[in-house]
Amino acid sequence: MDNSQSKQPSETAEITVGNKTILCPVITGTENEKALDISQLRSKTGFVTYDDGFSNTASCLSSITYIDGENGVLRYRGIPIEELAEKRTFVEVAHLLIFGHLPSADERGVFSKLLTSNCMIHDNMVKLFDNLPSSSHPMATLSAMVVTLSAYYPELSNLEINPGEINQIIAELLAKLRTLAAYSYKKSIGEPIIYPKRKYRYVENFLHMMFSTPVDEYPLDKEVVDAIEKILILHADHEQNCSTSTVRLVGSSKANLFASISAGICALWGPLHGGANQAVIEMLESIVRDGGQAKRVIERAKDKKDSFRLMGFGHRIYKNFDPRAKIIKEICDKLLLKLGINDPCLDVAKQIEEIALKDDYFIERKLYPNVDFYSGIILRAIGIPTNMFTVIFAMGRLPGWIAHWKEQRDTPTTKIGRPRQIYVGAPIKHIE
Ligand code: SDX
Repeated sequence: MDNSQSKQPSETAEITVGNKTILCPVITGTENEKALDISQLRSKTGFVTYDDGFSNTASCLSSITYIDGENGVLRYRGIPIEELAEKRTFVEVAHLLIFGHLPSADERGVFSKLLTSNCMIHDNMVKLFDNLPSSSHPMATLSAMVVTLSAYYPELSNLEINPGEINQIIAELLAKLRTLAAYSYKKSIGEPIIYPKRKYRYVENFLHMMFSTPVDEYPLDKEVVDAIEKILILHADHEQNCSTSTVRLVGSSKANLFASISAGICALWGPLHGGANQAVIEMLESIVRDGGQAKRVIERAKDKKDSFRLMGFGHRIYKNFDPRAKIIKEICDKLLLKLGINDPCLDVAKQIEEIALKDDYFIERKLYPNVDFYSGIILRAIGIPTNMFTVIFAMGRLPGWIAHWKEQRDTPTTKIGRPRQIYVGAPIKHIE
C-alpha cells in the first residue's frame, strides 16, 4: 500500500453524532489492522474526537515497522526482530529501516564507507563541549549538538535546495551522532576526546572513542561488540512511540533533519520513555542498597497513593512480553557470564520479574518487563555510565527516527501536524 493513500476502501463505517450520520472509509493495513478515516468528521458534523495519549489514534500510514502488542511481535520492514538481531549488523538494519531493504554487499560497502568518512565533526564544534558544564546530562549535550550541526553544515540542512543530498545527510548524521555521543562522555569525565579509526566498524569505533585514551587502546571484546550491536538493533525503531511521533511532528513543518532529530532526543529523555533505562538501574541500585528485597518496590508500585512506578515494566502497546526484553535478558545472562560479573542488580531484577509476573496487579494490567528493564545491566557491565544509557538508546533509535522523517517527507500528501483541542478555560470576559 502506498503511504500517500490507503487502498480504495472496500469497507465503510457509519458514525452518527447528533442528527448527523456520516460514512467513514475503513482503512485496512497489511496485517488487517483497521482504522476509521475520520478526515471529514469535523467538516460534516462539527465534532472532533478526543483521545488522551493518542491510544486509539493512528497518526499516519507507515511501511517501516509492524508491532502486534498482544502477541509480542516486532518486525522491521516485515523481518522479525529476532532474525535481525541474530543475523545482521546495526548498520545493515539502519539501511533496511531507512532505505527499505537490507543492503547488498556493494551497498553495504558504500554505506559503511560513507559512515566512516563522515564521522568527524567540525573542530570548532569540539570547542563547544568545553563551554558546557561537565555535570550536564549527556542527553542535553547530544540534543544541543545535533541541532548545532545545522549551523556548522548549513548545506546539509536545507533539503529544498539540495534534494539529492538526502543520502549524504543521513550518513553524516548517523556517523556524527555516534561521535557526538562518545565526545559528550569523554568531556563529562574530563578526558581528552578520542578520534575514530578507519579500521573499525560502527560499534567498534564507538567503543574505541568511548574507552580508549591517548595512551591506551581499548581492547575490543567480540562479545561486548556483539552485545552493543544487538542492543542498537533492538532499539532501532518502534513505530509511533513518543520520540518518533515528535520527530514526525517537527518534520511535518519542513524543519530540517537535524532539528527534527534533536527534538526526538529530548522526547526520548523522559523517564516514562527512553529515560527509563537509567531510572531502572537507579531503582535497582537503591533496592540493593536497602538490602536487596524486591517486595517493597512491588508493593509501592501497586499502591495508588504512591506515584512510584516499577521502571522498566509496562508498555502502551505490548500487553504480552516485549520481544526485545526477552532477547536483551539472554544477552545479559551470556555477557555477564563471559565477563565473570556477578551484578546484584541483575539478581534483584530477576527477583522483581519473578514476583511481578505472579502478582494479580501486574497480571490484570498486563504489565511485563519492557526493553528498558535489563538493558541497563548490560551497559553497566560494559562500563557505560548510567547517565549515558539513554544516549545509547538514542544512537539505536536514530535510524528509525530518520526512516520516519524520510517516509513522511517522501509522502506527497503529508500535511503539517496540527491537532485540535477542546477549550475548557474561562468564558469570555472583558477588561476595563
Ligand atoms: C519505552 O511506545 C514505545 O514504543 C516506547 C518504547 C520504544 O521502543 O520507543 O517501547 C520505549 O518507552 C518503553 C517504556 C519505558 N517506560 C517505563 O518503563 C516506565 C514505567 N512504565 C510506565 O510508566 C507505563 O507502563 C508506560 C508509560 C510505559 C505505559 O503507560 P500507559 O500505556 O499510559 O499505561 P497507564 O499509565 O494507562 O497504566 C495502566 C495501568 C494503570 O493502573 P490503573 O489506573 O489501571 O489502576 O497500569 C498501571 C497504571 O498505574 N501501570 C503501572 C506501571 N505501568 C502501568 N503500575 C506500576 N508500575 C508500572 N510500571
